[in-house]
Amino acid sequence: MAKTFYLTTPIYYANSLPHLGHLYTMIVADCVHRYKEQRGLESYFLTGTDEHGINIGRAAERAGRTPQEQADYVVSYFTKVTSAFGLDTEHGGYDIFMRTTYPFHAEGVSKFWRQVAHSKTPKGREAIYKGHYEGWFCAPCAAYKTEDEYTKPQQLDQPPLCLIHEAALDRVSEESYFFRLSDYGDALLELYESRPDFIRPEARRNEVMSFVRSGLQDLSVSRLRSSVGWGIPVPDDPAHTIYVWFDALTNYITAIGYGNEERERAVGFEKFWPALHLVGKDILRFHAVYWPAFLMAASVEPPRGIIAHGMWVDQAGRKMSKTLGNTVELGVLHKHFSVDAIRYFCLREMVFGQDGRFGYESLIDRTNSDLASGLGNLTSRTLTMISRYCEGKSPSGLIPEERLLLAKRSGIDTDETTIAGFVEHARDDFLLHFENYAFSRALEVAWSVVARVDKMISDAKPWDLAKDGNQRETLSAVLYRAAESLRWLCVLLYPLMPESAQGIYDQLGLGGASGSPDAKNSLAAIDPAELRWGGLQEGTRIGEVKPLFPRIDKGKLMSEIKTDRSSGTHATAADAVPGAPTAVETQPSPAMKHATEADAVPGRAEMLSTLNAKREEELAIEGLIDITDFTKVELRVGEVLSAERIPKVDKLLLLSVDIGEEKPRQILAGIALHYEPDKLIGRKIAVVSNLKPRKMRGYESQGMLLAASVGEEGKPVLATFTEDVPNGARLK
Ligand code: MSP
Repeated sequence: MAKTFYLTTPIYYANSLPHLGHLYTMIVADCVHRYKEQRGLESYFLTGTDEHGINIGRAAERAGRTPQEQADYVVSYFTKVTSAFGLDTEHGGYDIFMRTTYPFHAEGVSKFWRQVAHSKTPKGREAIYKGHYEGWFCAPCAAYKTEDEYTKPQQLDQPPLCLIHEAALDRVSEESYFFRLSDYGDALLELYESRPDFIRPEARRNEVMSFVRSGLQDLSVSRLRSSVGWGIPVPDDPAHTIYVWFDALTNYITAIGYGNEERERAVGFEKFWPALHLVGKDILRFHAVYWPAFLMAASVEPPRGIIAHGMWVDQAGRKMSKTLGNTVELGVLHKHFSVDAIRYFCLREMVFGQDGRFGYESLIDRTNSDLASGLGNLTSRTLTMISRYCEGKSPSGLIPEERLLLAKRSGIDTDETTIAGFVEHARDDFLLHFENYAFSRALEVAWSVVARVDKMISDAKPWDLAKDGNQRETLSAVLYRAAESLRWLCVLLYPLMPESAQGIYDQLGLGGASGSPDAKNSLAAIDPAELRWGGLQEGTRIGEVKPLFPRIDKGKLMSEIKTDRSSGTHATAADAVPGAPTAVETQPSPAMKHATEADAVPGRAEMLSTLNAKREEELAIEGLIDITDFTKVELRVGEVLSAERIPKVDKLLLLSVDIGEEKPRQILAGIALHYEPDKLIGRKIAVVSNLKPRKMRGYESQGMLLAASVGEEGKPVLATFTEDVPNGARLK
């Protein structure tokens, strides 16, 4: 039976749409997942959404949705993004898109809570107890903040601000269950000490250890249902909701079968646990301190390890976040760059453990230099020459004895093991870096192979060798070495750039019938450690040579991006993307409570238009509209000239209203039950004047009155003016 590997990303909050930061952790996880599979492990990759808690409740309220609708809406967007970026199951990516609103999750969380609640701490006390909590709570972080985690306000009556979100904290005081974290300090330190690899990179491990050494405080693990209603109730005490982090962290075990037999059969807790958690450093404490302590209390083995990557920051060095409004738009990225160029950039640019600065210019530069001029150019020159000089078939790499001297004279190294040794050595280095999550270093090593092979070709000048009939074998050997090196590069690069690596592999004629992960010749199934020089068979017919990484015109693309970004920020729904959903029309997709990730995969075109409409959707999620949306509505002062009832229609009045135009407007208003027609005459009212005319009960209505809707039955009360205003005056 194959060994297993279980890998997770954080599950992302379902109150806002994903940006580059979220995508990044998924890309890293996807890359590790593919690599583990290549190495022959049965890997299970989880990503998903964290759907409970005060923020989702608030976002839903603002958008006029139920929390479940809100979560479904964001999830449907997430699954579109993961599909467009090739990270979903269909593309060989994640195995589950986990959602904390899945019923099996609630079942597992309750079981986990009970298990913890019935346990004793290492000091022999109960792990969960009831107490009273008072503290500063940051809703966007969903966490209480200690003094060093907020800035004190200038004025005494103001709340402090969260250091991460620069947002006001809420003072929360209420009855709460506590997890006795303070009793787990020694056990945690023992864990970190006995497993130096448990938290990586080392600098982060040191941070966590000094945090734990400085003394842990007990952790509030519930909120009153009356203040946070959207969540999983505390077992046997439904007046309390389980703290969102306790709920969310537990997803890592419920997803694979903890507390639910069906999931256990489908995936297997025993089979896959413990997991390797990939997280941003922002949430390391939750994963490296709280989570292992919860697991210890529940007598569940701790995770395999926690890898904390740095943050993508903007040009000013601030963490890219929705709250700060400095995120990189996935729609813009996807529109202008190939998925693999984005993957390459992210993995190459972020040095393991450090923050990475994102810039479109650097992305273009890297795409042009490393991909177009580097790997792409090497591929196309090699294949073009094989096609031209070797009838499109992989030549032989062997130089017969009698030709060796001749070959030497041409300046090439006749000893094939020199280049073979170089490539093998590079492979070993590459794997070492990869195992240490140092993707940037691994890529540097791979590109040293690109440079070396490029130089070999330039030095050997195959175009000159081709002119000399006696150098046929020399020419073949050079081209074979180049093609064989490319084959190795494909295998190494597959986890990082699956589509391009498979593309090159196909062009080398090695891809088999298709590039699907199930195909026999798929790179997904080739272990890089097993590569042997000479594996490329002589006579292999190369595929169609196509450019993989077209060069980007930097100036042109930068100006397009600028336009896209500014229209993304300021445009209205209508002009940003023709046919894009407007804020009003953007309704959540049908409930997806029971949907699987496969059900949710949309078409690519749909994805693109959705990505491009991201800004509108974000606003929709927040229940907000852009100022330009508001200015689309034309409001004018009108004077009622006449009003009459309509036979057999109880609710409608037929009005004639002067809004300063040549002719008065005929407007139907549903106010007949509350207003006597006579009393309306001469009254100044507010009218929506640019509404499309529509027919009601056979009469055309050329506008709409504004009225407050009062009480349960929605009694209309007309908006009016206390001062004298001319007819037709614009309301702004
Ligand atoms: N819901 C919690 C996690 C619960 S896990 C049991 C949460 N969600 S989040 O939506 O805020 O996502 C945080 C994660 O997104 C980070 O840990 C990181 O993986 C990723 N990133 C978000 N912004 C990022 C950057 N600017 N840069 C890199 N990664 C970032 O916290």
